[in-house]
Amino acid sequence: MTVRSRIAGTGMGVPSRVVTNADLTQWMDTSEEWIEQRTGIRERRWIEPGQKPSDLAREATLQALADAELEVRDLDCILLATLSAEHDFPGTSFFLHEAIDAGEIPCIDLRAQCSGFLYGLQMADALIVAGRYRRVLVVGCEVHSTGLDISTAGRDVTVIFGDGAGAVVLEAVDEAAGTGVLSVRLHAEGKHARRLWLEAPSSAAPQRVCQEMIDDRRIYPSMDGRFVFKHAVTRMPEVLMETLDAASVKLDEVDLFLFHQANLRINEAVAQKLEIPASKLMNNIQRLGNCSAGALPILLAEASREGRLEKGQLVSLTAFGSGFTWGSALLRWG
Ligand code: UT7
Repeated sequence: MTVRSRIAGTGMGVPSRVVTNADLTQWMDTSEEWIEQRTGIRERRWIEPGQKPSDLAREATLQALADAELEVRDLDCILLATLSAEHDFPGTSFFLHEAIDAGEIPCIDLRAQCSGFLYGLQMADALIVAGRYRRVLVVGCEVHSTGLDISTAGRDVTVIFGDGAGAVVLEAVDEAAGTGVLSVRLHAEGKHARRLWLEAPSSAAPQRVCQEMIDDRRIYPSMDGRFVFKHAVTRMPEVLMETLDAASVKLDEVDLFLFHQANLRINEAVAQKLEIPASKLMNNIQRLGNCSAGALPILLAEASREGRLEKGQLVSLTAFGSGFTWGSALLRWG
């Protein structure tokens, strides 16, 4: 039988601590209006002291497994995408592996920033289609809050990020069923790596961590926001259409469009460019901020719980992020 991969279950894990725009105004020179008008964000979730990325990933994974009516022992491999590693090494996937008691199955960390979930989806899909594995867990997980500059100097970056993880179980299905991953297209442009990056700690520096890095605030992410914004609103429609063309699907046949949650204005601009009606869009950035690799799988989990995903529907997922990276996937749900 010819095999495809399908999403058998979705899950999410976000911290319970809510940080509102009003909270941020206590720590930096910003305003509730500025943040909401420029980004659409009203609040985000940040972890409590003692919580770890792997705690969020574990919650998302257990939900995804329950949703798929599967157990940890049914998994063959773990792919975890993150830009906010729990430790420098080993990868966060190993701490998730421990947290869910995954036996001896392999686990892999993927570093493709906000497009990380789609990079993971394509890798997992390829492994399943090649017959290497039957079920692969794909997780996007971020804890940004412990690495942000919570002062006026970091306000442009800090106000947009939230913590959260999402997970899906991808499993082999007979192509004849018609469901599953229809196409995925990924891109990267490393020449823009420094437009949105975290410079330090760095193995390219004489010493990976030093006081000077801290004093120069190079230990906090920095972004050329306008440059990133312009590229996102160009690349996202491009790759979305490329993915539909690869599957010979027309834009108006798609039932639901899920976009990376970096800025509501980016998503509105993409939707406007492609003339996508609001009824076919879903956003949660207003409540959760930008959870980078976690954003798309969290959105999928919410869409599933809200009954927005029906068997046979076409779902398009698109992301853009640091690297630069961008990508899109088209799925037939079910
Ligand atoms: O997830 C990965 C991909 N990331 C993205 O896609 C993010 C893309 N970029 C963006 O979403 C937007 O560029 C931001 C939301 C980050 C910034 O919005 P912007 O409209 O591009 O603002 P800006 O950086 O051009 O700054 C405009 C002004 C500046 O003041 P002056 O120079 O005009 O006096 C900033 O200092 O707004 C100021 N500013 C702020 N003011 C209040 C920047 N951040 C803040 C803030 N509160 N948090």
